[in-house]
Amino acid sequence: MQSSHAVVTGGAGFLGSHLCTALLDQGWAVTCVDDLSTGDAENVAHLRGRPGFTEAYTTVCEPFAVERPVDLVLHFASPASPADYLRLPLHTLETGSLGTRNALAVAREHHARFVLASTSEVYGDPRQHPQSESYWGNVNPVGPRSVYDEAKRFGEAMTVAEAEVNGTDTGIVRLFNTYGPRMRGHDGRAVPTFVRQALAGEPLTVTGDGRQTRSLTHVADTVRGVLAMAASDLRGPVNLGNPVEISMLDLARLVIRLTGSDSTIRHIERPTDDPSVRRPDITLARGKLQWEPRVSAEEGLAGTIAWYRERAAGGAEPVPA
Ligand SMILES: NC(=O)c1ccc[n+]([C@@H]2O[C@H](COP(=O)([O-])OP(=O)(O)OC[C@H]3O[C@@H](n4cnc5c(N)ncnc54)[C@H](O)[C@@H]3O)[C@@H](O)[C@H]2O)c1
Repeated sequence: MQSSHAVVTGGAGFLGSHLCTALLDQGWAVTCVDDLSTGDAENVAHLRGRPGFTEAYTTVCEPFAVERPVDLVLHFASPASPADYLRLPLHTLETGSLGTRNALAVAREHHARFVLASTSEVYGDPRQHPQSESYWGNVNPVGPRSVYDEAKRFGEAMTVAEAEVNGTDTGIVRLFNTYGPRMRGHDGRAVPTFVRQALAGEPLTVTGDGRQTRSLTHVADTVRGVLAMAASDLRGPVNLGNPVEISMLDLARLVIRLTGSDSTIRHIERPTDDPSVRRPDITLARGKLQWEPRVSAEEGLAGTIAWYRERAAGGAEPVPA
């Protein structure tokens, strides 16, 4: 019997590679579509040779065809870290717009379920706290971060319109900050930056006074939530994130403690339009998907630090560039 087949765009990225692994583990065939603009084929090296796993290195900004029947499209292609989208502003906009259109076209053609990876960044610097899905957000449309925020907002609008006009089975997840193994150390996000700095004995660079909060979700929890969304017929958007908030200063202190590093903390300038608070209201995910995070920050960070240490022991850079 032929197994169900999922297309994961952005499959060679951080989240995409974990999704490819989880789907294969559940018996799916998986096609990983990626242009390697921010990802790395090394992220899926462990999947090569597994039955049903195919790599297709191409951009989603151009229409792409998938030869065999598709049951599920997980659209995760997009630069995600501020360092990447600030370096690739037009690419980010094109991937969120043209890329979403092309990924939706694959789902439509194959009558497949489609799930868009949207983001808590659609809430901008929120005036409502915690953020529920009904909140419309507070985004600067011409600020430096707008290339990402507005691309995702446009992607959401296009996904909703596709369902309305063509009847495609679509869902939207709004992911809050996710961390775990395979994040690149220089991608600008807090966890890999702090871990890289702590393991190198360098000062941990906390922006502003460090009181700004984020919700950190371990990748295992995010993957479980995305797959629950894929298996449902919910349109969303649905928040997937950890309702336990942590300030950047507390996160830095926790990383120092868990690594046993003697690093200090250095305060640096806060980026423009950096949100002050972030915390999801996950009532919808709890009620409709029976989902909530299970991995505590302490446990998840300890595992992530162990992974970076193992890489170092194997001769690789402790935190991949
Ligand atoms: N990691 C998080 O905390 C987080 C939070 C919210 C939303 N998301 C969303 O999840 C998705 C994955 O994020 P990530 O953290 O794994 O980032 P990532 O940069 O590790 O992965 C993104 C992948 O998409 C690929 N890609 C980018 N543009 C492409 C294009 N035009 N065509 C084909 N492939 C392309 C990249 O090469 C990369 O492999 C993104 O859509 C992101 O917006 C992530």
